[in-house]
Amino acid sequence: MDAIHLMNQMRAEKKQFDVIDLDPYGTAVPFLESSLGALANGGLLCVTFTDMAVLCARRPHVCSYKYGTVPLPNKYCHEMALRMVLHLISSMAARHGRVIEPMLCLTVDFYIRLFIRVKDSPIGCHSNLSKYSQVHQCVDCESFWLQPLGREITETIKEDSTTGKVKKYKHQGKEEVKETEDKTARVRTRIGLPRVTVPSQCTVCDGPLTIGGPIWNQPIHSTEFAQRLIKVVRAGEEVKLGTAKRIQAILTGVIDEDPVKHMPLNYDFNFLCSSLKSINPGKQEFVYALSQLGFKAVQTYYQSKQWKTDAPPEVLYDVFKAFKTQLYKGDEKQILANLAPNSPGNRIFRKPIQNPKLDFDYKGAVEKGTSGIAPKKTKQKKYYVNPEPNWGPKPRATGQ
Ligand SMILES: C[S@@+](CC[C@H](N)C(=O)[O-])C[C@H]1O[C@@H](n2cnc3c(N)ncnc32)[C@H](O)[C@@H]1O
Ligand SMILES: [Zn+2]
Repeated sequence: MDAIHLMNQMRAEKKQFDVIDLDPYGTAVPFLESSLGALANGGLLCVTFTDMAVLCARRPHVCSYKYGTVPLPNKYCHEMALRMVLHLISSMAARHGRVIEPMLCLTVDFYIRLFIRVKDSPIGCHSNLSKYSQVHQCVDCESFWLQPLGREITETIKEDSTTGKVKKYKHQGKEEVKETEDKTARVRTRIGLPRVTVPSQCTVCDGPLTIGGPIWNQPIHSTEFAQRLIKVVRAGEEVKLGTAKRIQAILTGVIDEDPVKHMPLNYDFNFLCSSLKSINPGKQEFVYALSQLGFKAVQTYYQSKQWKTDAPPEVLYDVFKAFKTQLYKGDEKQILANLAPNSPGNRIFRKPIQNPKLDFDYKGAVEKGTSGIAPKKTKQKKYYVNPEPNWGPKPRATGQ
């Protein structure tokens, strides 16, 4: 029986599914509308997409008409694919008065797999706009900025005791909303038009920016959910899976990302260092140096060279600039060697370094007990390679 027909029929009969798992060939878009109507309140939508060529910007025009969003061809395109799909599902759910809560959204090999809780909440839908962002990406370097499409405005509404007129007092930024003594006052949060927060050109290399998205800018995993799942997989009681070790590695990686899970997308350090014609600093040396500026960086669970960080692009590049500068003891000739005049790398180095004296001596800091970074607890394997050459989705059966 056709799945779309079945889901629509269930909806018409007011019977709803607690879990719907969509795994068609290619895109699952044609199934989303009926799934979002047929799920019970709080139900789980599990969905796989394998049309990565479309979602990862090899066919941006197709992505724009199929998914209502524009992909970018950068190294973070797989996570961007997840976030573009979440943007689509969130906006489709809102048409049913429903909001989504991503529990676990993974990019694995040649596909993406999402587990999303769907809840009834017509009021919750009002916040959706602030959960979506455009991605402003430099075309000459790895820097990018997110431009949210909505802005949360919190205000207290109360009556002026002398004039009797109702007044609105806007709260500044993210200040804590305190309960007011005045019982006639009420605090409300609404979504207003955004302020443009992104630069008009790259602040790292002065290159032009391009625009992709919108994407979902909120966390794409529940760490607590991943922690519960990993216990189940470790115990191996409820499920015995041949890929248990790999699932554990993925879930551990997802849990490790928790400190930076509010930061969408990632930076490819190989790309970044190669554009600066620099060798990569060691992982711990880099994390230690960045921590001195108050920022964190975590290797993604899906690609060892791709890192998530809460550092803005200027700070990130500054750390790599400081590393290369220290490596060549400040010798400008050596630092700029191989960086053609007016190349992005050359332009980046011509801007002054903000923190030239960053300390990269992680081992020394550990010996002195001043590193401030907790050592890794396990030596669990983190990345798994494909089991055989040309491994990937097989074509749909033709019956011949
Ligand atoms: C990628 S396979 C699913 C594999 C399955 N998840 C597994 O692990 O074995 C896609 C399946 O979706 C089915 N399918 C595609 N469109 C469908 C539809 N409209 N209604 C019902 N089934 C459909 C196909 O017949 C095919 O069996
Ligand atoms: Zn740039």
